[in-house]
Amino acid sequence: MMTVTVQASNTYDVRIGSGLLAKSGELAAKVLSPCRALILTDDHVAPLYADALEKSLLDAGFVPQVYVVPHGEGSKSLCALGALLEHLAEQHYTRTDALFALGGGVVGDLGGFCASVYLRGMHFVQIPTTLLSAVDSSVGGKTAINLDAGKNLAGAFYQPDLVVCDPDTLSTLPASVLADGCAEVIKYGVINDASLFRSLQGGTSPACEQVIARCVQNKRDIVERDEFDTGLRRLLNLGHTVAHAVEKLSDFEISHGSAVAMGTAMIMRAAVAHRLCPKSDLDALLSLTQKLGLPTECPYSTAEIAAAALSDKKRSGDTITLVLPYGIGTCQLCELPANKLQAFFESR
Ligand SMILES: NC(=O)c1ccc[n+]([C@@H]2O[C@H](COP(=O)([O-])OP(=O)(O)OC[C@H]3O[C@@H](n4cnc5c(N)ncnc54)[C@H](O)[C@@H]3O)[C@@H](O)[C@H]2O)c1
Ligand SMILES: [Zn+2]
Repeated sequence: MMTVTVQASNTYDVRIGSGLLAKSGELAAKVLSPCRALILTDDHVAPLYADALEKSLLDAGFVPQVYVVPHGEGSKSLCALGALLEHLAEQHYTRTDALFALGGGVVGDLGGFCASVYLRGMHFVQIPTTLLSAVDSSVGGKTAINLDAGKNLAGAFYQPDLVVCDPDTLSTLPASVLADGCAEVIKYGVINDASLFRSLQGGTSPACEQVIARCVQNKRDIVERDEFDTGLRRLLNLGHTVAHAVEKLSDFEISHGSAVAMGTAMIMRAAVAHRLCPKSDLDALLSLTQKLGLPTECPYSTAEIAAAALSDKKRSGDTITLVLPYGIGTCQLCELPANKLQAFFESR
């Protein structure tokens, strides 16, 4: 088992290791007094892993109950949040009880936001079962639901009390969902971890304990310096300006991971064109991305991408912050006038 400790507004451990799902109760009992435990999960994950978590919690003295939402982004809604809050209240959960989010980023984001507002905050444990949630969404305390006007528009910063990641659970992921997580793993390599990138090139599985721990450490290092996303944390958005535009243009038909892979390739191509980044690093990125089953060509024009990116509801002012790769393992934030974005991508 590997442990990564995150010191943010709440200090907590991320435990990563094969077989840990069955030890979740024991690990939770080290940080929480035995209490009632609502297991929030989705209808794909429940039949696979809810029993194991429930048993582990029971054995450790918790009183578990399973609450299942439909799988998919639709569950990050006001409606799903309302139903979950009403359930907690009807069942008389208290602030000293805990919500366990068992699943991918959808139940993690919904569960975290719910835990942050129910009675102004109840205990919260993340048990990620997708590669994306293991390396990204379960750590760092961002929680949110979607509004009709856009994704993640209502949320809170709310750090969990514990994260337990059992890489064995990733074995049941559909290939496309696994590939989505790989896009975020590659992202950490490009941002500031050339040796992680090289080990992936050498064939190390992106879903193994060591790689997950390395990604979590990378995210931890950034989150500890900018928990509330006012500066440095934006580095984690590498490839995401384009990715969000691609997701929107495709009406969310193109998955987040595929969009991030396209976006990372596109920004690095632009960096090469502007002579900021060596061409050999771009070639390395394209070949690793393709090897991990992800696309590197974007189906939209630069004009379409720029227009969609600039209409982003969360964008502020007349400039746009880009994460620019100067090479594998070296990225910097760069402010660009919004009206220069299209030309920036078109330069050759
Ligand atoms: N909070 C953050 O910092 C943060 C960061 C990145 C992404 N996100 C959010 O995360 C969400 C995406 O997360 P995701 O990619 O994990 O998607 P997801 O939660 O929708 O899971 C993807 C699919 O895999 C299924 N699944 C999950 N675990 C499984 C398993 N072990 N075996 C078989 N099937 C399994 C799910 O039921 C679902 O159908 C988005 O809503 C995004 O906004 C949040
Ligand atoms: Zn992402």
